[in-house]
Amino acid sequence: MFPPLLPTYNRTDIAFVRGEGSYLFAEDGKRYLDLGAGIAVNAFGNANPRLLKALTEQAGKLWHTSNLYRVPGQESLSKKLVAATFADTVFFVNSGTEAIELAVKMARRHHFVNGQPDRFRIVTFDGAFHGRTYAAINAGGNEKYLEGFGPRMEGFDQLALTGDVAADLAAVKALVGPATAAILIELLQGESGVRVIAPELLRALRKLCDETGTLLVLDEIQTGMGRTGKLFAHEWLGITPDIMTVAKAIGGGFPLGAVLATADAANGMTVGTHGTTYGGNPLAMAVGNEAVDMLLEPGFLDHVNKVAGFLNQQLGALVDAHPGIFSGVRGQGLMLGLTMKVPNTDFITAARAAGVIVLPAGDNVVRLLPALTISEDEVREAMAGLDRAAAALESKPELKAAAQ
Ligand SMILES: Cc1ncc(COP(=O)(O)O)c(C=O)c1O
Repeated sequence: MFPPLLPTYNRTDIAFVRGEGSYLFAEDGKRYLDLGAGIAVNAFGNANPRLLKALTEQAGKLWHTSNLYRVPGQESLSKKLVAATFADTVFFVNSGTEAIELAVKMARRHHFVNGQPDRFRIVTFDGAFHGRTYAAINAGGNEKYLEGFGPRMEGFDQLALTGDVAADLAAVKALVGPATAAILIELLQGESGVRVIAPELLRALRKLCDETGTLLVLDEIQTGMGRTGKLFAHEWLGITPDIMTVAKAIGGGFPLGAVLATADAANGMTVGTHGTTYGGNPLAMAVGNEAVDMLLEPGFLDHVNKVAGFLNQQLGALVDAHPGIFSGVRGQGLMLGLTMKVPNTDFITAARAAGVIVLPAGDNVVRLLPALTISEDEVREAMAGLDRAAAALESKPELKAAAQ
């Protein structure tokens, strides 16, 4: 029989039924320390009292009105985001991939209203992940996600980065032409293995965009909202985008995404050019407003940076202690990847048996994206679990043989 639930996921056979801070509780009562936070979503942990209050208070008042009317929560949250970032304007959506759709539309429309309707191409990068809608899979360019879904969507030019900044920049320059509307890039590629893009290249891309009138679109869906220790990761680089996509942590677990843009980049988005039924609904706005308030409170990002430093150092020690299991640590802030010498899935299973949830990523990486509120004690507990997991794998006969 075909499964009643469409079988597009390869799910682990655990159902979590309750969460509290950084902990998750499964149906069988087992407690896990969660270093995944969904996938970088539950930035304030599970059942955060402030988010819970904001959501339940709003739930008792009004859930949905449509965007035919003013939505006060959208007005307040957009003002907060504009005040805290490069952006002049914000549009609220429900997910990351919807934010990408709008970013692509906005970039193309900018050139259209500026008298360059043929300027619609978007430069993207190998290893990118921008979501699963049609434009997003075409932007991501991953064959696995494109196969069988009809013709490729016109207008995406993808480049494989080599890590050699000069060569990569030359390749981008060769690709950016009169038909290029935008460059779309993640600052740290999460799904493909916490792959770091060289800061010098990112700064050079900003310069190239300025010189050519190309829009720089940063996908901060995973890196944004404090994940790397700044509100948005581009702040570390001293550059700003023209358009930025945000999702995941901005809703603290409630579906919410946003596109932030400068007035210039957004100049084509006039009445009727875009819309959404659910985007910016009162429930999402109640949570989003509270989440952004918490993130902007003095000391919040200091905690992220401090605990990230501690986690990084602890992971370094873990790698040193188990040279047959790990080869290194990479990433930034609380977006970290362990590069593995054994299959990442084996380690993830062993970690789960030791009570710690970690995530897979491409390039045989184990990804760590804990709640930003994780404490040093919880990091210590997690490290003890990961240490046990590594030791359990080391005791497997095939690894023992390889080490000898
Ligand atoms: C960088 C990036 N962009 C886009 C997306 C897509 O977001 P969503 O799954 O909410 O559509 C993700 C999700 O993992 C992401 O990490």
